[in-house]
Amino acid sequence: MEKDILVKLPLKQNLETTKVLKQLAKTSRSLAELKGVAKTIPNQNVLINAIMINEAKTSSSIENIVTTHDEIYRAMINPSNTTPEAKEVVDYRSAIWEGYKSVKENKLITKNTITKIQEKIEHNNAGFRKTPGTVIKNTTTNEIIYTPPQTYNEIIDYLNNLEVYINSIDDDIDPLIKLAIIHYQFESIHPFYDGNGRTGRILNILYLVYMDLLETPILYLSKYIIKNKIEYYKLFQETRKSQNFENWILYLLKGIEQTSKETINMINKISNEIISMKHELKNNPISSKIYSKELLEALFFEFYTKIPYIQEQLKVSDKTAQKYLDTLVNLGFLSSDKIGRERIYKNERLFNIIKNFDNNDEALNDINIETVEK
Ligand SMILES: Nc1ncnc2c1ncn2[C@@H]1O[C@H](COP(=O)(O)OP(=O)(O)O)[C@@H](O)[C@H]1O
Ligand SMILES: [Mg+2]
Repeated sequence: MEKDILVKLPLKQNLETTKVLKQLAKTSRSLAELKGVAKTIPNQNVLINAIMINEAKTSSSIENIVTTHDEIYRAMINPSNTTPEAKEVVDYRSAIWEGYKSVKENKLITKNTITKIQEKIEHNNAGFRKTPGTVIKNTTTNEIIYTPPQTYNEIIDYLNNLEVYINSIDDDIDPLIKLAIIHYQFESIHPFYDGNGRTGRILNILYLVYMDLLETPILYLSKYIIKNKIEYYKLFQETRKSQNFENWILYLLKGIEQTSKETINMINKISNEIISMKHELKNNPISSKIYSKELLEALFFEFYTKIPYIQEQLKVSDKTAQKYLDTLVNLGFLSSDKIGRERIYKNERLFNIIKNFDNNDEALNDINIETVEK
């Protein structure tokens, strides 16, 4: 078997070509704007929750785990009565949250951070590959595309090298260029039996937060990747062959620029919806009596809420919480479902905004690249 090239980091070539620098300026501008716009929303969890749902759904769908928002909604409320796909998406979202907390607390991204994320996605603690035989295959044509490092020692060696690269924050290279290199390198090491794609895409956002390019995890490239999936796969191989990273870097920089702009749009939509609901609540003679800033915030924290959440967040009795929520249902601000024994109150307006920002289903299933055992 011919051995594929995988060079250790840092790369010795000049990565800051004219084209890259031009694109970098545009990308940095959009990303900085996103960082600013995000700050205008008082409760960051509103954004994080809303945006992460779509990322979990889209990133999973790159790996052919396909579900719907309605199914995800059911899975969030009642995990024991749902499809495996929806459950995977909900777990993926928890994995992002966990990774984010870990980076905030430890101020480092280590092998351990990465394993923990993958563990959460895959529900097993197999850890890094110990048995040789893993390849990346086009399962449509059955062609082996790439053979990653095979032995445990090699994998750990490459990961140690990557870990140093990620955490050396004073080197003279723009973090957005580094992000591209890190993603290429991580996927090329392909350290796990499965879940490398999804884990690698979480690593991207953790790196943006780690480098303080964003304060919270709200920018995800999966939607861009799925729209440009054939190019994504092609660029891995072209870069591997030529060892010229320019097109790879440009691909990801463009993705960050586009996605920043889309995310700004989504944030503006959410922000406008919060403002209009606020006015409607205050102007209605019935809801004006129960209106508070905290209530409004609670209604947008997730796209659904429950009596105990309102009870806790507003520090009111369960009776009062229920009265508030039922009033909001009667006035048409929320809809209500009984799931199991629990009553769920749904903010359809927020749910629809989230749903509408995720229209990439048409791009699915054109090509399947998967990690398989030979
Ligand atoms: N030629 C390639 N070289 C390196 N990595 C690749 C290549 N082609 C695809 N990949 C990466 O491998 C991922 C699939 O790996 P896999 O372990 O199955 O991830 P997951 O379980 O999350 O599906 C793709 O999403 C992509 O990031
Ligand atoms: Mg897979």
